[in-house]
Amino acid sequence: EKEGYDHFMIKEINEQDAAIRNTLGEKDKIKDIVDEVKETINRVVFVACGTSYHASLTGKYLIESLVGIPTEVLLASEFKYSAKALNDQTLVIFISQSGETADTLKALDAANETSKTLAIVNVRGSSATRKADYVIQTQAGPEIGVAATKTYVSQLIAIYLFSALLADDADLLKRLEKVPDYIDEVLKKQGIIREISNNYKRDKDAFFIGRGFSYPIALEGALKLKEISYIHAEGYAAGELKHGPIALIDKNIPVVVVVPPGQDHNKIMSNLQEVKARGADVLGIGAIGDKDLIKESDNVFLINSEVDDILAPLVYIVPLQLLSYHVSVLRELDPDKPKNLAKCVTVE
Ligand code: M6R
Repeated sequence: EKEGYDHFMIKEINEQDAAIRNTLGEKDKIKDIVDEVKETINRVVFVACGTSYHASLTGKYLIESLVGIPTEVLLASEFKYSAKALNDQTLVIFISQSGETADTLKALDAANETSKTLAIVNVRGSSATRKADYVIQTQAGPEIGVAATKTYVSQLIAIYLFSALLADDADLLKRLEKVPDYIDEVLKKQGIIREISNNYKRDKDAFFIGRGFSYPIALEGALKLKEISYIHAEGYAAGELKHGPIALIDKNIPVVVVVPPGQDHNKIMSNLQEVKARGADVLGIGAIGDKDLIKESDNVFLINSEVDDILAPLVYIVPLQLLSYHVSVLRELDPDKPKNLAKCVTVE
């Protein structure tokens, strides 16, 4: 039931604080898994598709920066080319909302031959939960909209818990408890994004850029805009723009710049200036009080400054989900049922 919302997608975006709060309740179960695997693994490989792949990219940054274990991320449909390099000291983590994606299940079967497997899944009793050695159940509740929203942030919080427990990082574990409140603050200001969306409804192309932890946010923001609004959107590592795509930037191209506080802030601001100098329309997503960002952007959406680059993937994605939703509605599309897409892709 839509419970008064126009679409499932906007209802599910608004359930993200609760989805995270409920998934934080899985901490003790995740700790048991971490205790079982931590002595035997020297490498982690994430395998997933689509939005779940973007959650996995955040997992790579987290595990490598917090724990120092080499971690890579494979698209499930490309997994077989790397399968021979796995061994019994590799933990292969499968991320899937549905637990039924054909590409992911095929890879899971192959990984089970050599390695310990962990599935992070939302749908209870799904095939992935039956095949993997270990399971983390995200607690987002059923997701009806084709676009993954609340299940994405739930996957992320599960990955954050896993990584923080593996790193024994008590400070991060404590900070994660505040994430539902930060999301709630964003949701209270969602009218700002609805207004801003009017500027983008006629666009044909858009760029999303970020660095480090913000790079997967940019990729996911672009995927959402593509699938729900049918606007050609590219997510790019901000430092990579100058190696080619900057040739496309002119006054017709909106660029969404993801700029949380943290070590990359000044570098991303330089990238913002590069696109601005070419006439791009800049939508800055950054921290309350970031005067430079406010000055340089055509439009801004501002988030609690306690949300730094490390926590950003969990919170900064929310305005980007809202942007794709509102642009879709303004273009008179159905965000819950984008053309050519199914909630669960059961063919390879
Ligand atoms: O159920 P899964 O997480 O395995 O699905 C993977 C992708 O098909 C899925 O994330 C897809 O990209 C979504 N439509 C994104 O919103």
